Amino acid sequence: MSGGMWAEKYRPQTLDDMVNQSEIISRLKNFVKDRNLPHLLFVGPAGVGKTTSILALARDLYGPAYRSYILELNASDERGINVIREKVKNFARTASIASQVSFKILVMDEADSLTNAAQHALRRTMEIYTRTCRFCLIGKYSEIIIDPIQSRCSIFRFAPLSERDMKGWIRSIAKKEGVSLIEEGLVAIYEAAQGDLRKATNLLQAAAATQKDEVDDIVIYSVLGRVSPGKVRELLNMGLKGEFMEARKILRTLLIDEGLAADDIIRMIYSEIMRLSIPERWKVKLSDTLGEIDYRLTQGARPEIQLSALVANLALAGEEMDR
Ligand SMILES: Nc1ncnc2c1ncn2[C@@H]1O[C@H](COP(=O)(O)OP(=O)(O)OP(=O)(O)O)[C@@H](O)[C@H]1O
Ligand SMILES: [Mg+2]
Repeated sequence: MSGGMWAEKYRPQTLDDMVNQSEIISRLKNFVKDRNLPHLLFVGPAGVGKTTSILALARDLYGPAYRSYILELNASDERGINVIREKVKNFARTASIASQVSFKILVMDEADSLTNAAQHALRRTMEIYTRTCRFCLIGKYSEIIIDPIQSRCSIFRFAPLSERDMKGWIRSIAKKEGVSLIEEGLVAIYEAAQGDLRKATNLLQAAAATQKDEVDDIVIYSVLGRVSPGKVRELLNMGLKGEFMEARKILRTLLIDEGLAADDIIRMIYSEIMRLSIPERWKVKLSDTLGEIDYRLTQGARPEIQLSALVANLALAGEEMDR
């Protein structure tokens, strides 16, 4: 596997390469075409392309040397508004002479972490340097940004990535990295990442690092430190059908190959049992057994033996229901 983080490696360099957010991207492209820019306010959840799109815009606008025309500050890192004002002053007072564009871009990440007072100070700074500098404020929520700033900015609301776009993107990274990713794995990534493409990419990379032959849902869940609901369901079904040895085999895979903690498995089994369509009486009985096992485990009992006892109980339940 090649070094470095894939989320960085595959970060789109230009607006053309971005996925999803198409309405936002086309508005941003118009700014590039006009070589003009209002102040911007980007809001939305993590990993949806806020930072990426302002960097891509800058590159499209200034060319490969774009780094000299853009300054990134993180509002929560920089100590106080005075530090910010000083940095902004130094950056903004020199016009961007070398470029055909008359302004530079100042990116203020986590702008919604600024106090009200700091935001008012920032607003004055924005006014002073408005000729030579455009501000791109980034945050999770726009409501936390004071009205006087909001009214000076064009607001762009980033949404979590759609299922189709996220899956397509992840599939293409897997292909480029030579990872064999099967559909179940992709679904598990999508469900865990919830529209956050950074998280999805990191998950794929972590899964690939396990060196399994293929990335399926089990690998994803084990990377997440969680039990795959699919596997647990299979375990329960096998147990109920009286396939004791099969059920134990699945149990062993979870405990030994996947290295999952017994209490995580128990928690998962519990919630799956509650969903089973079996008589109420058996749900009570099985959760009793689970409670007992959970207790014994805290007392140092061996997980495998304890969970096998549960499987035996499932088999009994299954038998009785067949009668
Ligand atoms: N719309 C997108 N198109 C292509 N790649 C994306 C997109 N959104 C996110 N990514 C990928 O996810 C990574 C993180 O995206 P980015 O840094 O833009 O997130 P963000 O919205 O700024 O999130 P945060 O609020 O956590 O800073 C990028 O490096 C890139 O690999
Ligand atoms: Mg960001």
